[in-house]
Amino acid sequence: MAQDIKKLNNILSLAPIIPVIVLDDVSKAKPLANALVAGGLPVIEVTLRTKNALKVIKEMAKVKGAIVGSGTIRDLSMMQQSIDAGCQFMVSPGAPKKLLEQATDISIPLLPGVASATEIMAASEMGYKYLKFFPAEALGGVNMLKNFISPFQDIKFCATGGINEKNARSYLGLSNVICVGGSFVTPKEAIIAGDFVKIESLARDAKK
Ligand code: 3PG
Repeated sequence: MAQDIKKLNNILSLAPIIPVIVLDDVSKAKPLANALVAGGLPVIEVTLRTKNALKVIKEMAKVKGAIVGSGTIRDLSMMQQSIDAGCQFMVSPGAPKKLLEQATDISIPLLPGVASATEIMAASEMGYKYLKFFPAEALGGVNMLKNFISPFQDIKFCATGGINEKNARSYLGLSNVICVGGSFVTPKEAIIAGDFVKIESLARDAKK
């Protein structure tokens, strides 16, 4: 089947912001997920960019209330490993045809990345209606997404790449944006210092 829009809609409607995590230290996984859930941002994307990313996902998935997804998906093996780790959704930076075809056989939904009108049309033709707009700010940000509203009335976006506490609201004000993603809620220094109180408070502020 094509993209499981219902399942993805349920997940992406849970919170306006998806924290995007790059984490190798597995011991930080649970406290980090706990802080984000407590701060009101339970939908978390863990990028597969570190050696221990899958272990981080496994730990975070045990946290009550956390909905954990895998990010930076580039091939079938990464998708299969994501399921084994306990993910509930997957995110890819781009939308190559082969990946979109393979994802239709995977039991958790994929949110593929697009960067142009042609890519939106190609993904949409294959039944993908929920897309990541990446890298949002570098591509023209809010202004570009605004221009996609009229021609692509059936498409919803999660904007990521360059989103921060200052610009998140303007993205979320667009009718075709369901949520935004970003690393700004989980600064590297706060994770390294184990300052989860700060992360919980950043999550709470970002959600306002
Ligand atoms: C990413 O894939 O790294 C995300 O889009 C997050 O980007 P950011 O670090 O600019 O928020």
